[in-house]
Amino acid sequence: MADAVAEIRDLTKRFGDRTVLSGLDLTVERGEFVALLGRSGSGKSTLLRVLAGLDNQVEGSVDVPGTVSVAFQQPRLLPWRKVWRNVVLGLRQEGVSKARNRTLAEKALAEVHLAEHADDWPLTLSGGEAQRVSLARALVREPGLLLLDEPFGALDALTRIAMHGLVQDLWRRHRPGVLLVTHDVDEALLLAGRVLVLDGGRIVAEHRPREAADHDDLRRRVLADLGVTEDAHA
Ligand SMILES: Nc1ncnc2c1ncn2[C@@H]1O[C@H](COP(=O)(O)OP(=O)(O)O)[C@@H](O)[C@H]1O
Ligand SMILES: [Mg+2]
Repeated sequence: MADAVAEIRDLTKRFGDRTVLSGLDLTVERGEFVALLGRSGSGKSTLLRVLAGLDNQVEGSVDVPGTVSVAFQQPRLLPWRKVWRNVVLGLRQEGVSKARNRTLAEKALAEVHLAEHADDWPLTLSGGEAQRVSLARALVREPGLLLLDEPFGALDALTRIAMHGLVQDLWRRHRPGVLLVTHDVDEALLLAGRVLVLDGGRIVAEHRPREAADHDDLRRRVLADLGVTEDAHA
């Protein structure tokens, strides 16, 4: 409890008459990598927005004691700011010199292998590069909780594989608690130590891939949690 970077109890979120999250409990421990799976429209992004403090119109308790950063499916870079400026956008700017900001940005860009692109304009980057800038922008805040909302969803297959490796490296180096939203079961099983399934407004299943003896069996069980049976496609 004392070392949780996110603690949610009995969270309910409604949009008008529609209840999207209903009595949801969730804890993310410091340094833990958690994946959150759920069907489209199940409330994954809503939950992330609540954790990021972007939506306070909720019932229940939400405790995120440290710094939180978010990266979305789209990198959301400002095209009129150079890459390095985008990286430090979310930092407190008062009393911080331009040189200091530049140093922080360069360090973060080096970690995502983009040091040489500091002075480029965002529109000159590939999709994968832009997404790496978005990761650098999230990391430069040294978050205790890193929220990733389908960050690889818009990337081609090879870039996605490279990004998986990069995110794991960054996680090992900085050890934030990570909550990765994805609808890709294989991605969740590959990256996370704990895989959660969101359905009907709450967490309905929890799996620990590292402790699973039979990967194929686990994969089938997670798909079943999501309402997918592989026979259905045969
Ligand atoms: N601002 C909003 N106003 C009304 N309904 C919303 C709003 N944001 C999300 N929803 C609804 O909440 C449900 C969950 O959305 P979302 O969290 O985006 O799902 P997911 O990310 O799992 O696909 C959807 O039915 C969506 O239409
Ligand atoms: Mg979503």
